[in-house]
Amino acid sequence: MSSVLTNEVDHDHRVVFRMMQEIDRLLEAPDREGVRDELIDALSALLDDALDHFSREEAWLFPALRAQSPSFDAPITELERGHDALAGVVQRMIHMVRVPSAEHGQLGLLAKRLKREYEGHVVAEHQLLLDAAKALSPEQRQELAKLMHRE
Ligand SMILES: [Fe+2]
Ligand SMILES: [Fe+2]
Repeated sequence: MSSVLTNEVDHDHRVVFRMMQEIDRLLEAPDREGVRDELIDALSALLDDALDHFSREEAWLFPALRAQSPSFDAPITELERGHDALAGVVQRMIHMVRVPSAEHGQLGLLAKRLKREYEGHVVAEHQLLLDAAKALSPEQRQELAKLMHRE
């Protein structure tokens, strides 16, 4: 858990931002063909990591918050849509790198969209978790933190 986190229900998204930086670096490489395999590996690793993270939130964290208060339902539905959209952008990028005939020129645009979407997602999720922390008792927060970090 990072010290920048404001409460035990919140969690760290910096791993994904670091992975996106690495993808940016590869996209800026002068010889795109030369880094093709590396780019596919980096995008696939990002997708795996993000999908695991989204699944944990949707399996443990979101149901527990919904059970606490119906007011969490609308922001959580929005975050779930965000998970699908983010996964979709990464899938599209993988397709573009894999398929020789795909529109490679769009890769940079999608990378920007991915970063923008992810930043918005993290801000919204952080706000939800701040609101949740205010509404929950210390015991409930501990319980949620355990649920979120179980493997
Ligand atoms: Fe998250
Ligand atoms: Fe999320």
